[in-house]
Amino acid sequence: MVTGGASGIGEAVARRLAADGVMVAVLDRNGDGAHRVADDIGGLALAVDVGDPIALTAAIERASSELGGLRYLVNNAGIGNLKPLAEYTDREVELIWKVNVSGTFTALRAAARLMGEGAGIGAGAIVNVASVSGVRPTRGEAPYSAAKAAVVALTQAAALELAPSIRVNCVSPGFIRTPLNEMLAADDAMRSQIESGTPLGRVGRSAEVADLVAFLLSERAGYITGQNVVMDGGSMLTSAQMDPVLGPLLEQFG
Ligand code: NAI
Repeated sequence: MVTGGASGIGEAVARRLAADGVMVAVLDRNGDGAHRVADDIGGLALAVDVGDPIALTAAIERASSELGGLRYLVNNAGIGNLKPLAEYTDREVELIWKVNVSGTFTALRAAARLMGEGAGIGAGAIVNVASVSGVRPTRGEAPYSAAKAAVVALTQAAALELAPSIRVNCVSPGFIRTPLNEMLAADDAMRSQIESGTPLGRVGRSAEVADLVAFLLSERAGYITGQNVVMDGGSMLTSAQMDPVLGPLLEQFG
């Protein structure tokens, strides 16, 4: 099951897993997008808002019963925002928390119940998608950074409790070109600023994150659990790589 599988990183993960022979359920609040991807890969589409715990639990249970069980879960659906800390509204903070943190928690709980039934060692694997922002915060993303740090903590807590039958890991991408940040990536000046602050000299691709997720789900990663793997072209090694990009944007919107 892949949440947020209708676009960007989630779509790449769904396609990669299907190519590996996995029957994939695409869960997304964008029902049309979920159907587009699921139809393409011969999977199952479910329209659901991960911020709604009752609906998300029901969708996971339904997908599990239609597909004959749940073995892999990728908690990828996420949203962020960009504005000065003092200007965030309660509603914006609540929404960021609901989608990124509550959504991940609800899915982890549902998966623990479903995968846990009579499970043996290696019964399942879960990957959560956090962000470099959760490890090294960037200006303008305070609620998002806090939410993604919480996703890392949830990963560690779940890994501890669900071992040995279920492995739980986390990936923290840096700048990956997707519809989420197309506005920045399509701007030549912005992109070259991001690239110059990234030791590997380019932005990342969704397919690269999908490869990492597929590895962490696979038996090849059978001795890895509770880890947060940063995939950012080395940008965390440079100081505040996104600040020159987000600083001017903050002034523009703030
Ligand atoms: P995207 O915007 O291209 O795709 C996100 C998908 O999640 C969309 O299909 C959207 O409909 C779905 N979604 C959003 N809120 C939802 C909700 N409440 N319920 C169900 N589905 C929902 O974004 P992208 O870039 O693929 O991001 C995927 C994940 O990767 C997110 O968790 C994001 O925070 C994280 N990430 C992305 C980075 C990037 O540079 N693109 C960097 C670091 C982390």
